[in-house]
Amino acid sequence: MKSKGLIKAGLLFLVVGLVVLVGWMEQVQARALGQDSDVTRGALLYDNWYAALGVQPPQGNMPIWDRQTTNTRSGAETWRCVSCHGWDYQGKDGAYREGSDRYTGFPGVFPAVTQSTEEDIVATLSGKKDPQHDFSPYLSESDLKALAHFLKTALINDNEYIDPKTFKVLGGDSASGKALYEAQCARCHGEDGTTLRFRFEGRDATLGTLAQLDPWRFLHKTRFGTPGTEMVIGYELGWTAQQGRDVLLYAQSLPSGMEVQQSPSLGEATPAPAAQPGGPARNVLTGVLTAFGALFTGLGFALVLGVFLIGVIFVIVWVIRGKKQ
Ligand code: HEC
Ligand code: HEC
Repeated sequence: MKSKGLIKAGLLFLVVGLVVLVGWMEQVQARALGQDSDVTRGALLYDNWYAALGVQPPQGNMPIWDRQTTNTRSGAETWRCVSCHGWDYQGKDGAYREGSDRYTGFPGVFPAVTQSTEEDIVATLSGKKDPQHDFSPYLSESDLKALAHFLKTALINDNEYIDPKTFKVLGGDSASGKALYEAQCARCHGEDGTTLRFRFEGRDATLGTLAQLDPWRFLHKTRFGTPGTEMVIGYELGWTAQQGRDVLLYAQSLPSGMEVQQSPSLGEATPAPAAQPGGPARNVLTGVLTAFGALFTGLGFALVLGVFLIGVIFVIVWVIRGKKQ
């Protein structure tokens, strides 16, 4: 009887030990990544909310879309924030200005977000200011908040660093970009950016093609990711705005398959389904492994493991003793 009680106590000890261990690992992982997941979530929603959420886009055009006739795209794409506000977040005042085949005349989000609070932006996104600008039937409150948080805290204005005619990065450091690219990106995209192939405006595209044809899209996706893909991103690596542009500058020098220089045109890639080589820790299992990696380097781990092992030995001893009686 007495030993049974002790076994119970031992088991309890074990469970508590496990809980502490798991809690510790989560903390270590959060610290290791050191980022704000609402920002990356908001950025993916801005890019393509229905792809990010894995839902069907609404039927027909977004109602506001029909206020203009210059951009002849239609359907699902007209529901994406980026289709109206741009990869540079500047709408008609940026890359989607008059003359671009993406021109809509719709404003950018930059001026508004510097003047609004996150609550104001959520109100805008719920149609409180313009009933046709209502995404609340499709996006949850927390998604709208993530979007607002992304817009409010993470937008980067690159336009003075990108030549509006040639789309070349101005004042970047290609050697720094090359080092970053080779350390983080080459293992999936290849040394020359051609391992993964994309479809872009009806053509085959490599990373080099995309970097030349739509540098803003390249920057947004490099910094914040692309829906449905787990990849290393600048935001989680703690890259500065300049480091993002350095990588873009280097990528613009990679083979692009465009022997003859064509005038850049902004468009939508329809990437071929690509195999996903092991990405950074994002799912539970790799997360736990990453956390373990981080833990082993931590001094505190020895302590936690020690306590845990004592618990295990304690239980084993009492089980054996219980059997002997
Ligand atoms: C079909 C085009 C279109 C789409 C899609 C669209 N917007 Fe807008 N957005 C507009 C227009 C036009 C305005 C200007 C105000 C108005 O008329 O609603 C605007 C205004 C805004 C503003 C500024 C509001 C203010 O107070 O000045 C923000 C922020 C914004 N949109 C964010 C988003 C986000 C985030 C998404 C994606 C969930 C999105 N928009 C999708 C067209 C669009
Ligand atoms: C774990 C593998 C992996 C790593 C590492 C990785 N990527 Fe990717 N990346 C992908 C995959 C897969 C896609 C394709 C997604 C798709 O098919 O839409 C992609 C897509 C992209 C795109 C979007 C292309 C577009 O416009 O649709 C860009 C830009 C990009 N990667 C840049 C980078 C950069 C820069 C790095 C280094 C910081 C990097 N990637 C690291 C796997 C990776």
